[in-house]
Order: sequence, then structure tokens, then C-alpha cells
Amino acid sequence: MTDPTATPAWKALQIRSASIARIRELVDQDRSEFRNSVAGVEVDFSRQRVDTTVWAGLKALVEQCDVANLRDHMLTGSHINTTENRAVLHTALRLPRESALIVDGVDIVNQIHTVLDQMAVLAEHIRDGTWKGFSGRRITSVVNIGIGGSDLGPAMAYGALRAYSDRSIAFHFVSNVDPTDLTETLRLCDPESTLFIIASKTFTTTETMSNAQQARSWVQAAFEAEAKGDVVSRHFVALSTNAQAVANFGIDPANMFGFWDWVGGRYSMDSAIGLSTMIAIGADRFREMLDGFHAVDLNFANEPWETNVPMQMGALAVWNRNFLEIETTAVLPYSQYLSRFPAYLQQLTMESNGKSVRTNGESVGYNTGAIYWGEPGTNGQHSFYQLLHQGTSVVACDIIVIARAQHDLGEQQDVLVANAFAQASVLSLGISAEQLAKSGVSVDLIPHKVMPGNRPVSIMLCQELNPYILGVLVALYEHSTFVQGAIWGINSFDQWGVELGKKVATGIGESFSDLDLLRNFDESTAHSVKRYLQLREGN
Ligand code: F6P
Repeated sequence: MTDPTATPAWKALQIRSASIARIRELVDQDRSEFRNSVAGVEVDFSRQRVDTTVWAGLKALVEQCDVANLRDHMLTGSHINTTENRAVLHTALRLPRESALIVDGVDIVNQIHTVLDQMAVLAEHIRDGTWKGFSGRRITSVVNIGIGGSDLGPAMAYGALRAYSDRSIAFHFVSNVDPTDLTETLRLCDPESTLFIIASKTFTTTETMSNAQQARSWVQAAFEAEAKGDVVSRHFVALSTNAQAVANFGIDPANMFGFWDWVGGRYSMDSAIGLSTMIAIGADRFREMLDGFHAVDLNFANEPWETNVPMQMGALAVWNRNFLEIETTAVLPYSQYLSRFPAYLQQLTMESNGKSVRTNGESVGYNTGAIYWGEPGTNGQHSFYQLLHQGTSVVACDIIVIARAQHDLGEQQDVLVANAFAQASVLSLGISAEQLAKSGVSVDLIPHKVMPGNRPVSIMLCQELNPYILGVLVALYEHSTFVQGAIWGINSFDQWGVELGKKVATGIGESFSDLDLLRNFDESTAHSVKRYLQLREGN
């Protein structure tokens, strides 16, 4: 893995970043080079703080960091997840049925479509009422129990595609071990007509298994004692790679939909983990979503820099992060249906690139993963946009705009989109003291009304939000995340940083019933545990 800072391109970009013009000056030039489109999503980088020299420099950086070579290794099943010795093949999940991909001696495309077909049968039986609960009632509530990639993708997809969903079925997503999450959800469900989807790649995650066991007890309590085993088979299915653990839980293996260790949790919404999505929108629509993913895969795999949108998106993120020293990126979907899209991207981007060690074990000597966050527009405008406009932190903004509303409320869609474009303009161009003075603003107020602008903004514009476009949007960020990690020389596909916290939590939990164990922890933890126990007991 090349040290990116050692490449000529990095050095040239560092020099350029010291003299790059402000966005206000740049937008007066021809910006057509910075506009592109892929599979129905028009991406406009014209409000990014780049010029032709920077663009050529980023192209050179991608070449000198050999990103295309690592991409090709990923697509063909090399074990690029080196610390876990695994392939990274979420792209295989959306390969057409007639494709073939041999990995470790196995044609995985056949396996993938076998699972998709099994999912489709279940989804159809839930949707048409063929699948009955233990007492013979059809399923009208589906509860996905999972966390991280086993929750965020399905929950986001259901939110994004509600307009395409079967409205006779209510979908819920339980993730937190906080008793509130499951309890408040079960209040909305009837055990006789509820299907629980236990989504867990490992089928060992504490939060998920705790909630799953509680849900099982809740359902079984609704039926006579002798029915216990059969009840589970009619009200529980599993999504996992761990068949033994699924069987141990009591779920019929026939009701388990598998995936593979080469599907990372944060890259799994288009695997069996997407079962709730398929039940909601149907198998045909789910396959349209897969086609959207695949269209971007083809662009990423085959297009040269000039038309390779994910490659440009990822390289631009590195420019903003490492050369303009912008620490956070706000994803601002002007679409209420996409309100959980920023949350989904948080795991995708930050669990992938929140790393400070290169694949060869050396510490990086440069910044890596930016902080991704965001809320839908126009809501954010009434919340944090003040900081975006006049704060001391410069935030890069990805604004997503959907042209056609799925509901007709007169001019409201036009108002929404006008706000999106207005924010892009003001964030990137600002307004100067001279402009304010000319417009008659009082001298004492001018300093308070100056908007520095120069905030880099991308606009992603699509005609409508449908399953295909959702697949396109997700795949764009998946591959942008890949490009960033490849340039930084880090492993974007492991997540060792989350393991220690889980282990320490187990130890602290044990101390609640044996205070002597607190000697194993620092004084602050011991104090917190003691106060918690006192408060819990009402003291
Ligand atoms: O946060 C750590 C993590 O392993 C994520 O990568 C994963 O998506 C989540 O926990 C849930 O894991 P599982 O699907 O195995 O329950």
C-alpha cells in the first residue's frame, strides 16, 4: 500500500491547496467538468472548492495510490480485508442471475440468487397472507430486531421506500438494548399477527440476542404451554451467517436466510439483511434496488476518471479532508423519506474509515475518516445551519434533491427544492460586507450579517426516489468510502475499535452483582457504578 503523502500528486495538491481560489471566484469559470451523472443521479461538484488543476491532481492521486487495482481485487474476491482474512464482496450481492463469480472455488452468484429466491417466497407469503401465525392469523406487523448494519440499512430503506410499501403491514425496527425500544414497539403489536426477524450476522450480538429472547418470551406467553416450539417457527425468522446459533435459538433452519462472511455488516442491506425491505416493497421492487446498486458498480468498475462518479466522489472527500482540512461532512437530504439516510451513512463511513493504522500496521501520518452527520432539509435550516453559515468550523455539505414529490401538496415541493438550492448558493458564495453595505444594512449590523461562504457543497439531483435510485445513492457512498480508504491505505472493512468496549461492558455488568469486581476498574467507573446502583435502588 502506497503512503499517499509520498506521492507526487499529494505534494502537488498540498501546494495547490495553499493558493486555491475561493468558491465565489471559482464559480465564475466553466464548471461543466465538475458535473456528472450515473444511473439517474446527477452529481454537481461545481460548488466544491476545486479547479481544473485540483481535478487533474486528484486523478493523479487516485492513479498513484493504485485505487483501481485495489478495486479490481475487491470485485474479484481477493481477501482485501486483511486483518480478518476475508473477501469484500457486497458488490456480488447485486450481480445479475446470469453472472458467474468463482470465489474460493465456489460460484457465489448461484448461492446469492438462491437466497434471494427463498426470501422472495417468504416475502410473497407474508404479503398475500399465505403465511399464518400460530393461531392462523395473517402477519400484519413485522419487527426487525438487529443493530448496526443489521438495523440501519433495513430501517433506512423502509423509511426511504414507504411510498412503495404494503401499507397493510406495519414495520418496526428494534435495535437498542434499552428496554424502552422493545417495550414501546411491542405495545404496537399483537403476538398472534407479528413476525420477528432476528437480524444478526454473528447471531451473538448482546443487544440483538437480549431483545430476541424477550420477544420470544412475549410471543410464547400469548399461547398455551404446549405450543412453545411451534410458536417460534411461525413467528420468528433469522438472517445470519451462523446457522448453529440460529438453530440453538429455536428457529427452524428453513426460516433462516443466510449470507456470508464476505458481506460486511455495514454493507449488508442488499443481502438477506434486507428481508424486511423485500417484504415491505415486494421482490420485484427489491430487485430494482439491486439493479441500482449494480449500475453504480459498473460505473465504478469500468469508467475512466472523467466519468467515474464514485471515484471522483471519494477523491473529492480526500481533498476536503486532507487538503482543505475539513473535519466533517453533513449529508442533507431534502427528502423526508431519506431522514435516516445520514444515520445509515454514519456507520458506513465512520465504521469503515475511522482508522488510524494503515494495512501494514504503521500509524498513519495524516487525517483519515471525516465525521459524517446530517438531518433532512428544510429541518436542518431551523437547527444547525447557523453554524454551517457563520460558525468557525467549515463543513462540507452533500445536498440531495428529489425533483418529483410522491405527494401533491401544491407548491410545497417547489418550496423544498428552492430552499435546497438557496442553501447551496449561500453556503458556497456567502455575502460580503460590501454587498451588505450596498444593500443598506446598518454599519453596526454588517459584521453580524456577513456570511463567509466558501463552504464546499455537492448537489445530488434525481427525478424521483424509488428503489433503483436508493440503490444508486447507497452504492455511490459505498464506493466513495472505498476510494477514501484506498487512498489512505487503511482497511475499511474491519472494525476492531468496537470490540474492547463490548468486553469492558461485560465486566462492568458483572460488577453490579459483585462489587468486589470493581477493583478491576478505574476509580471513576467504580464511582459511577456505585451511584447507579444506589439510584437504581431508590437511594
Ligand atoms: O458495531 C459492530 C458490529 O459488528 C457492526 O459491524 C455490525 O453491523 C453490528 O455490530 C451488528 O453485528 P451483527 O449483525 O453480527 O449482530
